[in-house]
Amino acid sequence: MSGRLFTSLGLFVFSMVLMQCAGATLETKQADPRLAPVQPNYTSQLAQSMRDLDAELVAIRELLEAGEDVAGMRFTEHQFTTLQPTDSSMLVDGFQALSMAFAHQVAEFNAAPDAETYSAVVGGCEACHMRSCPGPLQRIAKRYLSEDE
Ligand code: HEC
Repeated sequence: MSGRLFTSLGLFVFSMVLMQCAGATLETKQADPRLAPVQPNYTSQLAQSMRDLDAELVAIRELLEAGEDVAGMRFTEHQFTTLQPTDSSMLVDGFQALSMAFAHQVAEFNAAPDAETYSAVVGGCEACHMRSCPGPLQRIAKRYLSEDE
């Protein structure tokens, strides 16, 4: 019983530490809308590439869900390892390998855009975020196709 409590407490503290990455700060900002944000809303190159990719996911997912053709769609091929992060602590061990795996998934979609290669890209977003920055995981989960659920 107390062991379980300690495990969940530990997980909670651990996730608070990880939540320093973008996405998690939104809730504190909404707490009192009259207050200025604690930090200026600086967007790193890496964070911007993520927002752009997320918008691409939304656009492609909409077509797929509507049963429309995605043959003409492409994801932008970012080089994550050359983009500046908000904070170097975001570049966890394995970041480079995860970036390479993700680049491969994007290349597979771009070579053969369909539902299957799309879902593999979402899986790549999820895989890296589990390791580096769990804040956006809920948002990423919504990018899966309804047929994957
Ligand atoms: C190789 C690791 C990796 C992959 C793959 C990855 N991310 Fe990220 N993502 C990060 C890191 C690290 C940050 C924090 C960037 C920063 O704040 O500089 C981030 C930040 C974000 C953010 C917050 C950006 C903001 O507004 O500040 C979103 C949303 C996001 N990612 C969504 C995605 C989506 C969607 C995908 C797939 C298309 C994806 N990520 C793929 C590592 C990754």
